[in-house]
Parts: sequence; structure tokens; C-alpha cells
Amino acid sequence: MWPSLSGSPSSSPASLSGVEGDFKKDNVYIREFHPSEQEVVRRIFYEGIMERIPNTAFRGLKHQPLIQLIYGIFTIICFVVTKSLLLTCCLPIFLMGMRYYFSRKVILSYLECALHTDMSDIENYYMKPPGSCFWVAVLDGNVVGIVAARGNEEDNTVELRRMSVDSNFRGKGIAKALGRKVLEFAMLNNYSSIILGTTAVKVAAHKLYESLGFKHVGIIEHYTLPGMTHSILERMFFQLRYHRYRLQLREE
Ligand SMILES: CC(C)(COP(=O)(O)OP(=O)(O)OC[C@H]1O[C@@H](n2cnc3c(N)ncnc32)[C@H](O)[C@@H]1OP(=O)(O)O)[C@@H](O)C(=O)NCCC(=O)NCCS
Repeated sequence: MWPSLSGSPSSSPASLSGVEGDFKKDNVYIREFHPSEQEVVRRIFYEGIMERIPNTAFRGLKHQPLIQLIYGIFTIICFVVTKSLLLTCCLPIFLMGMRYYFSRKVILSYLECALHTDMSDIENYYMKPPGSCFWVAVLDGNVVGIVAARGNEEDNTVELRRMSVDSNFRGKGIAKALGRKVLEFAMLNNYSSIILGTTAVKVAAHKLYESLGFKHVGIIEHYTLPGMTHSILERMFFQLRYHRYRLQLREE
């Protein structure tokens, strides 16, 4: 279980004192992460990723025509072999159950990995290295959204990462404000472009990035997440598409 917002030290308005609120829209502030907010930030991240389980399992299927065909063939074979209408009708339910099971398995293992790497120590991973930062959106004293930036000096890009807004506070422009903060950071630090990758299936994330000026620059089908085994069953029931976006700030 994740701690409730009301009990978190980050939720008290006093925790804002001494920290500059550098974006204000109505009563939403975007400001830098404070270590006392580690748990609430991890909760928002965790919940945002957990939403991917049903989305990837069910909505994701509409982008997989080959898999749809295979499931259709299975259903026909089931009818030919068993001659049972009941069993044939149950097969799609079984297939969807398997999709949910594999989605959950892979996404939980991805979460496990993220919560033990950068999200286990945000201060050290994002706040200390130059060219990186982590921000929170604070609404009425509560942390309700998160985003990170990680600079790459080799190609002079900054990666936007870990964007997530508490589901109770969506549709208020909070993600857009967080995204603009990353844009501002990239410009101030003279990065030439901002890049990001997302496996989100829902349109909200894609519309958000497009509304911030990002261009869709590619898609990787059959994307691999840490923890995937590539077994035949996993390939049959779990597929992920990775979308790459880029916002060019200036020519190199
Ligand atoms: C994607 C997400 C961050 C959007 O947060 P949000 O605070 O509700 O977004 P905003 O209110 O700032 O909306 C910004 C833009 O996103 C788009 N958008 C947001 N919600 C949308 C929805 N439900 N349907 C379609 N477009 C949507 C719109 O273009 C909107 O701009 P507009 O209002 O000017 O048209 C949020 O849904 C979320 O946290 N999802 C789970 C985690 C995730 O998927 N993260 C991003 C992928 S890495």
C-alpha cells in the first residue's frame, strides 16, 4: 500500500516554504522535487504504470492484426475439434484472461525494475547530476503530478521521463504545465532537442505530447521491457509498441 496524501509530509503547505514555486496556474505549482516527497511520487508513478495493464492487454489488441488473426484461427480450430458452441464461446474469454495475465506479469516486473533504479532514489538520480531534474505539481498543498528530465551531453538532448498525473486531478492542464517546465529547462540549459519514448496505449499521452509541440518520429513494434522472457506464450499474449517523440528546439 502507498501512503495517503493527507498523511504525507509533502502534502502540507508548510513543505512549500523555502522552495520556490516557479509556475502558477490557478493554485497549481510546478516546483523541484524534495526528498520528503519520495513516497508520494513513487505512488503516482506506480498508479500511472498500473493503468497500462488493462490498456495494453485489451486496447493494445486493436493494433495487432496478426495476433487478432491467430486468435480467430484458434477459435475456428476449437469449434472444428470440439464441436462445442459453449467451449468456442469461452475461448475468447480465456484468451483475454491470458492477455491480462501476461500484461500484468511484464508490467509488474518493469515497475519492480524502475522502483529499484531511478525511482528508488530520485534525489541522487535526478537532482544531483547536472543536466537532470525532477519536478512535482502541487495543487492545494498536495503533490498531484510528476515529471523528470535527464540530459545527454553526447547528443545534446534531454529526455522527458516519468510523466504522470494522479487520476483524480487529470484534465486540468497539470501534465501540460509539467511538460512546459521540461521545455523551459531544456532551453535554459541550451539543449538542442527534447526526446521521449512511451508505450502508452491511451490517446491522452499522445495528444499531450503533440499539444506540447512534439513530433512523432518513429515506432518500435514488439518492444522489449526489462523482465520479458520472450517465451512463445509471452509473445502470443503480450505485445508492446514503443512510440518515439522529438521536439527540436534549435538546429545544431
Ligand atoms: C497522460 C497524462 C499525463 C495527462 O495528464 P493530464 O494532467 O490529464 O493532462 P492535461 O490536462 O495537462 O492535458 C494536456 C493535453 O493532453 C491531451 N489530453 C489529456 N487528457 C486527454 C484525454 N483523456 N483524451 C484526449 N486527450 C487528452 C489534450 O491534448 C490536452 O491538451 P488540451 O486540453 O489543450 O487539449 C495522464 O493521463 C496520466 O498520468 N496518465 C498515466 C501515466 C501516463 O500515461 N503517462 C504518460 C506516458 S509516459
